Amino acid sequence: MDDLITLVERALADFTACTDPAALENAKAKYLGKAGALTERLKGLGKLPPAERAASGAAINAAKTKLEDALSARRASIADLKLATQLSADALDVSLPGRGRGVGALHPLTRTLERIETLFRSLGFDVAEGPEIEDDFHNFTALNTPENHPARSMHDTFYVEGGNVLRTHTSPIQIRYMETHAPPIKIIAPGRVYRVDSDATHSPMFHQIEGLWIGDDVSFADLKAVMNEFLKNFFERDDVTLRFRPSFFPFTEPSAEIDMRFGDGGWLEIAGAGQVHPNVLRAVNIDPEHWQGFAFGMGPDRLTMLRYGVDDLRLFYENDLRFLEQFA
Ligand code: DAH
Repeated sequence: MDDLITLVERALADFTACTDPAALENAKAKYLGKAGALTERLKGLGKLPPAERAASGAAINAAKTKLEDALSARRASIADLKLATQLSADALDVSLPGRGRGVGALHPLTRTLERIETLFRSLGFDVAEGPEIEDDFHNFTALNTPENHPARSMHDTFYVEGGNVLRTHTSPIQIRYMETHAPPIKIIAPGRVYRVDSDATHSPMFHQIEGLWIGDDVSFADLKAVMNEFLKNFFERDDVTLRFRPSFFPFTEPSAEIDMRFGDGGWLEIAGAGQVHPNVLRAVNIDPEHWQGFAFGMGPDRLTMLRYGVDDLRLFYENDLRFLEQFA
């Protein structure tokens, strides 16, 4: 009998020591399985003298019930334990403050482009686009740019396979637009352009905004009026003055360089412009005897530097958040 009590105590201790279901089932087999210690006792009952059998059998059965009860209690507590561990591992503390989302912001150059588009739209201009990989015809030939023009040289231009180029200016968009639209035409065309050039004020990739207004009698006076209006609005200042310097571009005649300044500060070149050359109109089958107008190519990167007082163009392209965050 003592023996049986020890056996039960050992079994209970074993069950309690188990912390996972598999170990518990192994422990169960040790006592209650086919060859388990308690099962062996039951089998041995037959060998006892008949007088002892009843009492012994009852004691073993009581021990068996005890072990079975202990087993199911332990099964339940192991399951509880597992659930509790899982819950604490995946704990969601609803009282913690959220991680917060960084607020994104537009790049200062993008802001400038959007601002320029808005201002020109308010003057009645549509916005057009064109491909950054251009063919020779649209980038040069149709723009009245001769074979020997320096812009066509490898020094200045990125050539890609098939004789195409990374567009060196946004002027080819003029051509593409006039190929598919009849005058009157009044557009601006912003975009990236590429040249073999790199220093504090030149980047191999930069932006331009092309302008084109073709009508019955669109003149240089209109160009001046549009530029004046645009720049005053862009800088939100009345002390902006413009200067038109005679210049040369193959695709305009006459041509001018447009400079601006604040008050009596220094002059800064911001655009090239002119009356669209008759050859350009002819290249897209527009009759230069009937239609005329102006075009310009402006540097929005330069305008952004002026507006925000940035003195190195490269800052815009380095993606240093310490710089960019100031515009957020
Ligand atoms: N495409 C010229 C350049 O990149 C800029 C330019 C000058 C554009 C005169 C024009 C223009 O439309 O009329 O240097």
